[in-house]
Amino acid sequence: MKLERFELERIQSEWEHVVKYNLSESGVEPMRVIELLGNQSQRSLLDNKLGYPQTNGSIALRQLISQQYAGATADNITVTNGGAEANFVATWRCIQEYKERNELIIQLPNYMQIWGIGKAFGARVKPFWLRNNGSAWVPDIEELKNSISKKTCLVAICNPNNPTGAIMGLDQLKAIAEIAEDVGAWVLSDEVYQGAELDGKTTPSMFDFYDKVLVTNSLSKAYGLPGLRVGWIASPSKDVIFDLWAHTDYTSIAPSMLSDTLAIVALKQKNRERIIKRTRTILRNNWSVVEHWLRNNGELFECIAPKGGAICLAKYSREIDSVELVYRLIREKSVLLAPGDHFLMPQHIRIGYGHNEQHLVKGLESVVELLIPTSV
Ligand SMILES: Cc1ncc(COP(=O)(O)O)c(C=O)c1O
Repeated sequence: MKLERFELERIQSEWEHVVKYNLSESGVEPMRVIELLGNQSQRSLLDNKLGYPQTNGSIALRQLISQQYAGATADNITVTNGGAEANFVATWRCIQEYKERNELIIQLPNYMQIWGIGKAFGARVKPFWLRNNGSAWVPDIEELKNSISKKTCLVAICNPNNPTGAIMGLDQLKAIAEIAEDVGAWVLSDEVYQGAELDGKTTPSMFDFYDKVLVTNSLSKAYGLPGLRVGWIASPSKDVIFDLWAHTDYTSIAPSMLSDTLAIVALKQKNRERIIKRTRTILRNNWSVVEHWLRNNGELFECIAPKGGAICLAKYSREIDSVELVYRLIREKSVLLAPGDHFLMPQHIRIGYGHNEQHLVKGLESVVELLIPTSV
């Protein structure tokens, strides 16, 4: 097993707490514990015994999560440490369970976790692209049809998409489900940006369209709670969920007790609505800053407006490698962006706009300062 470097996570891990202006984050400004608790007594949190919680997440937490999926109960959910563990165990299980099916098809561009894990576990990994048609990012359904076969164990999508912020609608999701069903493949639908839509319309979940789906999600992005490290897998198949729980015995055993407790607070209906509203307000406000900046710098950037997530993928006109550009920005301007090459998108940068507005303005100004001089 050869694990290739997860370049995006490495560069963020190394620099996000070092630079002055971090525009590499894909979620919104994290909430403070006190903001999450609101008027609720802090006593119940402090009274918590720091033992092991129920290892697949408390029943109360799984019940709250299950309310987001039509017909689901707590048994359709297993709680994980972030969407990262959810993606890991889901991919691992599919590859090891269906040995006669050694191929994964992954929507690109994408967060490259499943791509890396798939290769490390020896699967053949094939792309299925979202294509820029000049006004939108559109999934190449024909490419998926041509690539899929009885050898495919998993089709992995990310909706809303990281890094483009594109959202696939009902028809596109149904088309993907039908193509997967034709060959009996599973779909892994990473929905961590669900709830973070600029127009306020919740992205439909693949859970509603296909029996053989593993939906992964977390509180990290749309809820602004990445430090809780709470994620989950939801599937119509309770047996598979039970089996995935057994996989987490080998990875992290359980979520943390405090995180389980705080996640219950976050997902109670009133709080959930308040949190999602906060996220969408930040997104709309900060996107107008980026939009204005893009308009003022039309000779440098082309960008399709995102529909979800606190991210957009901009193509730049200067002849400079995206990784080199990002390292120059770190060194010369103390700004961190995500290089397009870390999503297999050369000549692009991913801009995270969900954090502090003043930092966003300063960071964006610095990017232009570096790109404008003809020395680049
Ligand atoms: C598409 C996607 N899935 C999963 C993750 C992992 O998120 P977490 O483990 O914080 O929930 C990320 C993080 O950026 C992501 O962008």
